[in-house]
Amino acid sequence: MFPERRMRRVRSRTIQPLLCETTLSKNDLVAPLFVDETAKAPVAIESMPGQSRYPVDMIAAVAGDLYERGCRAVLLFGIPAFKDEAATSAYDSEGIVQQAVRRVKAAYPKMVVITDVCACEYTSHGHCGIVGSTRCGDKDLLNDESLLLMNRIALSHAEAGADIVAPSCMLDGMVASIRGALDKEGYEDVLIMSYSTKFSSALYGPFREAAASGFSFGDRTTYQMNPANGREAYLESQLDYEEGADILMVKPAGPYLDVLADIATLGIPVAAYQVSGEYAMIKAAAERGWIKEKETVLETLTCIKRAGADLIITYFARDVCGWL
Ligand code: PBG
Ligand code: ZN
Repeated sequence: MFPERRMRRVRSRTIQPLLCETTLSKNDLVAPLFVDETAKAPVAIESMPGQSRYPVDMIAAVAGDLYERGCRAVLLFGIPAFKDEAATSAYDSEGIVQQAVRRVKAAYPKMVVITDVCACEYTSHGHCGIVGSTRCGDKDLLNDESLLLMNRIALSHAEAGADIVAPSCMLDGMVASIRGALDKEGYEDVLIMSYSTKFSSALYGPFREAAASGFSFGDRTTYQMNPANGREAYLESQLDYEEGADILMVKPAGPYLDVLADIATLGIPVAAYQVSGEYAMIKAAAERGWIKEKETVLETLTCIKRAGADLIITYFARDVCGWL
């Protein structure tokens, strides 16, 4: 009676674009930038070809070049000249990130400036907060002491003019704590993008070279998440949502698209961070001629969007703006 339903592949190249479900746009992209207090000129990052650490007096020009290409958001990481146990240079009003924020916002007020709120670039031991003896007797990150540090860092970034602060240390109660500290000082309109689902991943390797943030003992598995745990990842994000996060984040991106799709159901914007290792793998294979760089990058980013990402943090942002 009814005609048999068949799979109907649309073969017409004229019709295909009309049916495309996911479109990547420049508005989706965030470019990470490294500002280095010790650099006099750009320092190329060996494990991330095409990326550099910039001196602060170049950062407005670097952001300006992105802006002119249509990239409207940057994520700033600082490499300070001075590190100590308490990460004091992380919340210094004359600190490297605070200076960089002021310069970018002064030159390009419409550039969205996001700052990474963490201590691992600023601590002498390389961990993401205050370290001490825990109840289990091991030296490890102390949650509540570190929360106070994050409040100070976030506040100093807001004072410098950051539009969005992005706490990345996976402490318990981190979003509520920072929200409270910002509101108390009148920064209600500064958004919080929480690294709500940050896996303990081998794919951060090149970043640790870039940001000089490797650790001198232990690892980060006590505060970052086990890649095997998807339900726990969802719950962590739900808690950050309830604490008042404006944007959630999944990091790394590519291997965690199932998690990303789940978290997108919470209803607030979700960012995906295509991390340094994902960048390095594509670069290395493309350099050898084993894959095509542009095609691979556009495919991976489109798939990240398809899975539910509203914004994508990627070291390819500058290139992609040239391609789109
Ligand atoms: C630090 C931080 C890390 C990244 C961003 N912020 C790495 C880490 O936990 O060592 C990784 C980014 C990347 O690999 O591109 N809190
Ligand atoms: Zn950190």
